[in-house]
Amino acid sequence: MIEDIEKYLEEVRQFQTADGEELEKFRIRFAGKKGILNELFARFKQVPKEDKPRYGKLLNELKKAVEDKVRSLREELARASARAGSGEDLTKPGYPYPLGARHPLSITKNRIIDIFKRIGFNVSEGPEIEDDWHNFTALNLPEYHPARDMQDTFFIRRNPDWLLRTHTSSVQIRYMEKHKPPIRTISPGRVYRNEDISTRSHIQFHQIEGLYVDEGVSFADLKHTILFFTKELFGKSKIRFRPSYFPFTEPSAEVDVYWGLKTEHDYRITKGTGWLEIMGAGMVDPNVLENMQIDSQKYTGFAFGLGIERIAMLLFGIPDIRMYYENDLRLLEQFKSVL
Ligand code: PHE
Repeated sequence: MIEDIEKYLEEVRQFQTADGEELEKFRIRFAGKKGILNELFARFKQVPKEDKPRYGKLLNELKKAVEDKVRSLREELARASARAGSGEDLTKPGYPYPLGARHPLSITKNRIIDIFKRIGFNVSEGPEIEDDWHNFTALNLPEYHPARDMQDTFFIRRNPDWLLRTHTSSVQIRYMEKHKPPIRTISPGRVYRNEDISTRSHIQFHQIEGLYVDEGVSFADLKHTILFFTKELFGKSKIRFRPSYFPFTEPSAEVDVYWGLKTEHDYRITKGTGWLEIMGAGMVDPNVLENMQIDSQKYTGFAFGLGIERIAMLLFGIPDIRMYYENDLRLLEQFKSVL
């Protein structure tokens, strides 16, 4: 019997586990109600008298060994589960940071601004609620001028002199009120027209106006500036100027860029001609300079205005102007990595 206890003692000392269930089985096997310890204690009575002291001592040793083992293994298990924390695998890569995206109109606007900044233009802005003078009259569009009909206007009821600006040309006027030539400025901003909403037109859209006034500015300067712009923005170096009419420029032109006819898409957006209209432009009408107390004998200038929506449609293949204002994440998220 003594050998039995010694064998158990050895087994208990050797026992190791990292598994809670296994440890519990071990505890029950030795210290449970019908466990080995109780059975050995029960047998104590039958032990011959002379063996009792040794038997008793060994049995107590075994009991203590069982208790010590269970306690120390339980502590170890608790430490291990604390180390594991919530049970997540800490070696996994982290979640990516959620990234926002710029709106395609902002991307386009910023690209255009960057190009003109490089050739000495600064950026100017004006209010979206304008008065008649800045939006029309000062731009050589007096009251009852038929060309006012070119831009269907939202007027503001409270004051018939107020309106939502129909173009960013109003910022030209505000800029010339405050600055004398040489002037080189571009003015981005939102404009409004009372038009039917369709794939190509909306009641609100964005323009960028350009204005350059100095001594000796010529139509050739306008052409070269626009050519530089189309090369930089689209990588296209063929443009043409078609005669046109704007009250605030003389002569006036509409500028087309040769887009090409390589793909079916090119055919569709250029209606089979290869050419796309991208802006209105011209030499600043002397009347406009005189309205601003700028000597039109001494100074000349050019101006141009382009629609950002149209340019962004070309750059990104966006088929419908309404998509810009719908805030559909399926569109917006495509611009996450676009600068
Ligand atoms: N303001 C004109 C428009 O909105 C565009 C333009 C600007 C034309 C400057 C010529 C010069 O249609």
